[in-house]
Amino acid sequence: MKLQAKKVSKTFIRKGNGEKIALNEISFTLKEGSFCCITGESGRGKSTLLNILTGLLKPSSGKVFIDGKELYGDYTEKQRTELRNQKIGYMMQGAALLENLTVYQNIVCPREIKGQIVPRETVDVILEKLNISSIQNSYPSEISGGEYRRVSLARTLLHNPEILIADEPTSNLDEQSASVVREVLREYWLTGKSVIVVTHDKKFDMNFDKKSLDDKNFLNNKNFTDDKNFLDNEKFLERQKQIGINYSTITLDGKEE
Ligand SMILES: Nc1ncnc2c1ncn2[C@@H]1O[C@H](COP(=O)(O)OP(=O)(O)OP(=O)(O)O)[C@@H](O)[C@H]1O
Ligand SMILES: [Mg+2]
Repeated sequence: MKLQAKKVSKTFIRKGNGEKIALNEISFTLKEGSFCCITGESGRGKSTLLNILTGLLKPSSGKVFIDGKELYGDYTEKQRTELRNQKIGYMMQGAALLENLTVYQNIVCPREIKGQIVPRETVDVILEKLNISSIQNSYPSEISGGEYRRVSLARTLLHNPEILIADEPTSNLDEQSASVVREVLREYWLTGKSVIVVTHDKKFDMNFDKKSLDDKNFLNNKNFTDDKNFLDNEKFLERQKQIGINYSTITLDGKEE
């Protein structure tokens, strides 16, 4: 899926406190199979941008295109919801798990909404990888902040979207867990999907160099989904040759008001 933003701006009206320009004419194009990091200081509008790209927040001006169709013009609200249920996976910055479901139920529910049955082993692999197996029967209110982030990520990964969007996926994590999260996101990208992360974690940059694509051991790292579209190493390398690496960073550094 190709994602395009054209001069996207967002101004919030604050109750009794004037206006806040959160985004000012942001434009970029992400080809299919991109890995994109969005950085920028706190309050620069990163989460606002993700909310706009995922169809949750209409921009004040400017347009977003998904595969050439305008997200807030050609798509209806219902179709935007469907898009999030099918093709876009969004790991939000704040609380997003359903409180009355266990960790396990939270993780499988996006797939079940799609009418798919998720094999237990598939979930087990990702739970183990992210080191959250022991809390699978707990409820969101019973787990730590770092565990919460990893459960949210597991849910987004299992959703198996064409574009995976994660807002600060390594915040609240110790270095060991953060490195697992980076690896898992890189593996996901290597299956041919697009990944967009908002992050302050500089290590994302260093991890995504061209070298890793030539590293057979790295690519042999088993995939964790039962995705029938999973590309094996050779096909993947071929594909990368065709589409290029597509690694990019967008820095939101708008002028002070
Ligand atoms: N619903 C809202 N109403 C009013 N102002 C808002 C609203 N949402 C965000 N803002 C303001 O818009 C600006 C951008 O917010 P946003 O959450 O996108 O920042 P961010 O770059 O994600 O920051 P952080 O790194 O702290 O998560 C902030 O100044 C914030 O206070
Ligand atoms: Mg934010």
